[in-house]
Amino acid sequence: MAMTFLRASCLPTLFLILLSCNMRASEAQTPAPAPGLSYTFYRTTCPQLESIVRTQLQTVFNSDIGQAAGLLRLHFHDCFVQGCDGSVLLDGSASGPSEKDAPPNLSLRAQAFVIIENLRRLVHNACNRTVSCSDLTALAARDAVFLSGGPNYSIPLGRRDGTTFATRNATLANLPPPTANTTTILNSLSTKGFTPTDVVALSGGHTIGIAHCTSFTPRLFPTRDPTMDQTFFNNLRLTCPTNVTDNTTFMDIRSPNVFDNRYYVDLMNRQGLFTSDQDLYTDSRTRGIVTNYAINQTLFFRDFVNAMIKMGQLSVLTGTQGQIRTNCSRVNSNNLFILPGMENNEDEKLASY
Ligand code: HEM
Ligand SMILES: *[C@@H]1O[C@H](CO)[C@@H](O)[C@H](O)[C@H]1NC(C)=O
Ligand SMILES: *[C@@H]1O[C@H](CO)[C@@H](O)[C@H](O)[C@H]1NC(C)=O
Ligand SMILES: *[C@@H]1O[C@H](CO)[C@@H](O)[C@H](O)[C@H]1NC(C)=O
Ligand SMILES: *[C@@H]1O[C@H](CO)[C@@H](O)[C@H](O)[C@H]1NC(C)=O
Ligand SMILES: *[C@@H]1O[C@H](CO)[C@@H](O)[C@H](O)[C@H]1NC(C)=O
Ligand SMILES: *[C@@H]1O[C@H](CO)[C@@H](O)[C@H](O)[C@H]1NC(C)=O
Ligand SMILES: *[C@@H]1O[C@H](CO)[C@@H](O)[C@H](O)[C@H]1NC(C)=O
Ligand SMILES: *[C@@H]1O[C@H](CO)[C@@H](O)[C@H](O)[C@H]1NC(C)=O
Ligand SMILES: *[C@@H]1O[C@H](CO)[C@@H](O)[C@H](O)[C@H]1NC(C)=O
Repeated sequence: MAMTFLRASCLPTLFLILLSCNMRASEAQTPAPAPGLSYTFYRTTCPQLESIVRTQLQTVFNSDIGQAAGLLRLHFHDCFVQGCDGSVLLDGSASGPSEKDAPPNLSLRAQAFVIIENLRRLVHNACNRTVSCSDLTALAARDAVFLSGGPNYSIPLGRRDGTTFATRNATLANLPPPTANTTTILNSLSTKGFTPTDVVALSGGHTIGIAHCTSFTPRLFPTRDPTMDQTFFNNLRLTCPTNVTDNTTFMDIRSPNVFDNRYYVDLMNRQGLFTSDQDLYTDSRTRGIVTNYAINQTLFFRDFVNAMIKMGQLSVLTGTQGQIRTNCSRVNSNNLFILPGMENNEDEKLASY
């Protein structure tokens, strides 16, 4: 705890502490846009893009703020499996099972897909087919964070949509289960270039949204996971009376619909829902980061934004790679009927085939 406070305030008492502060500072740099992405990508082709998305999502969240969590998670699943290429949006087809159908879709909200397709229609009506479904998914996640009370930030755009499904195996291999411990999570995410700081910050996405009992029943049955607070356990057993129920519960009991740092306060009180959450506080490698975020929301927001920008650039398709889908849930067909003006140039046409 003392060490944690020293690190958080960066008192230059010891060389080692100074060093760790410097490392923190370098980790805090906003990641540079990946080649082919930029902060001004749609400046001429769709200047209204960001305001259309934000206005529409504000309306959606006014009637159901829970959809914000669904959209944030959708972007995470898209990016972790085969890169942020919108493949998570594809409906199953003869070409193979889509990510949506693989078991660890971990109950993505069906409505999230409808919201993205509605955004696509609105944006394409205003700007023609210039904006990809993967960019819309990234923007929706960004706005889900801000409109739930989180930081307002810009993200690089210019992603293109993939034309191939992610296999069931790739989906299973790339999304760690909630039963994973910190060792497993750190190892898994380090293969994608994430540091322990990134991992703890990204896990803060669990400050909004819900989970099904089945995602944490091993911590309730047959007996209480000793790392879980007794009162928290007693309440969860009321919501999840057996190991086979469809019930859901909020992930952050302190402020379930607000994007804030209370998730980390939950962890410090042994009220984290999943093993993958709670073990971040048990494990000595990540415990100090959890504490730092619990006491400093500004720090959490800064690190979360950086980690999200990093996540949002995993294996992106750019330039003439991939395509811009006319329907987010399916790949453009070869002999697609193209409305006049929908294709602006030959490159675009070639890239869509
Ligand atoms: C580190 C590994 C992660 C694991 C093991 C994990 C696991 C899970 C699980 C099991 C659920 C509940 C599914 C259900 O029972 O319905 C969930 C929900 C959620 N996750 Fe994660 N997750 C991880 C990382 C992330 C990241 C990086 C984000 C975003 C930054 C995120 C955002 C969310 C959100 C917002 C929900 C709530 C969804 C809703 O209410 O519909 N998760 N996660
Ligand atoms: C996720 O998978 C479950 C069963 O594995 C299925 O019932 C659900 O409809 C799927 N969700 C989506 C959005 O496809
Ligand atoms: C959010 O940030 C954008 C630019 O980064 C700015 O134009 C906008 O005014 C900000 N919105 C709010 C509500 O702070
Ligand atoms: C998928 O993974 C399972 C188990 O790991 C393996 O038996 C199977 O051959 C894999 N399938 C493909 C298509 O790679
Ligand atoms: C973490 O989980 C892995 C895989 O289940 C296991 O081999 C390892 O012993 C666990 N580590 C700790 C510290 O519990
Ligand atoms: C679902 O949870 C509620 C309390 O939140 C509980 O009363 C109910 O029995 C649970 N239903 C099932 C089927 O487990
Ligand atoms: C639920 O518990 C019963 C009895 O303990 C066990 O036989 C069963 O395999 C469990 N089911 C799941 C899905 O964990
Ligand atoms: C919280 O973190 C921010 C960002 O690193 C830092 O500027 C600020 O000084 C910290 N606040 C406290 C009270 O340590
Ligand atoms: C988009 O594609 C899906 C799946 O192929 C289809 O069900 C839906 O009707 C299509 N939407 C539009 C507007 O064409
Ligand atoms: C969209 O395409 C139509 C038909 O070619 C064209 O008239 C219109 O100017 C285009 N709109 C924009 C915003 O580029």
